[in-house]
Amino acid sequence: MLVKVKSNSYISESDVTDYHIYKKRREFIKKAGGVAAAFSLGVPALSSAGVAIKDYKKDIDNPLADELTEEIKVTSYNNFYELGTGKGDPKSNAHLLQTDPWAITVEGECANPGVLGLEDFVSPHQLEERIYRLRCVEAWSMIIPWLGVELGPVLKRFEPTSTAKYVEFTTILDPDNLPGQRRAVLNWPYREGLRIDEAMNPLTLLAVGLYGKELPNQNGAPLRLVVPWKYGFKSIKSIVKIRFTENQPNTSWNTSSAKEYRFYSNVNPEVDHPRWSQARERKIGELRKRKTLMFNGYADEVASLYDGMDLMKYF
Ligand code: MTE
Repeated sequence: MLVKVKSNSYISESDVTDYHIYKKRREFIKKAGGVAAAFSLGVPALSSAGVAIKDYKKDIDNPLADELTEEIKVTSYNNFYELGTGKGDPKSNAHLLQTDPWAITVEGECANPGVLGLEDFVSPHQLEERIYRLRCVEAWSMIIPWLGVELGPVLKRFEPTSTAKYVEFTTILDPDNLPGQRRAVLNWPYREGLRIDEAMNPLTLLAVGLYGKELPNQNGAPLRLVVPWKYGFKSIKSIVKIRFTENQPNTSWNTSSAKEYRFYSNVNPEVDHPRWSQARERKIGELRKRKTLMFNGYADEVASLYDGMDLMKYF
């Protein structure tokens, strides 16, 4: 991103993920037969949710591949520019994000638009846990157990028309409360977009939680995207609007610096960021660097979306 990355020297060698504690918690959630045993979204039907778990880590070159990133790191080392540009700002300012009540507007090229509540997006029967890698454009990565639903079936309920070629997502605009939005670091509100087939891809997740709990504000409460084969900034947080469009939508990072951030932003170790290499990354919590994988390791699932495209041009 435009703001200089701080060094990772805050990570001490004693930082080890306590995977056993995590597994116990996960078993607890499974036994309890519902996510609401661990958190409440204000969606009563969730109490009967059974959580399916899919593991899409795709870490193949590291003996520690199974290790989730430590939860405390995931929730305290963030990019959420509405809450500040420092990595600790989102957590410090998390209380400033007002998430209740929350409404999401669905509009544009669809037959069934509306202004909806969270319960219209999160079905208890489809809620599942997915362990995905998230690779930030700043060359760090995390492995996170997300809770959510596949975006595609949700979008279909709004009946996109044949002219809907893209989907635009918008984050809450609330400069009175969100300190980052009182500075012109980005074109507010934060906007992101996907081609409709990317949005419909089964990997694309609409997340409401992580580590078996409700999403903390700093991670994009109450509803965010997780698009694991794209750089982290495509995974827009705290969504208030979804718009189906015929033309490729403008996105905040592309508007802010078109040379550095293009629309697709697929993880690609062969296309450097103009100011740094994307060939390697540091998983938060590790000292060594590892190779970045094409499409963040999800090539089997998504490479065909880009058949025939010059990925050096459409990055
Ligand atoms: N969404 C909004 N609204 N504002 C942001 O600043 N930052 C993005 C993305 N979504 C951002 C956002 C970036 S750069 C990253 S790396 C991911 O959120 C980080 O998600 P995480 O905090 O859950 O790791």
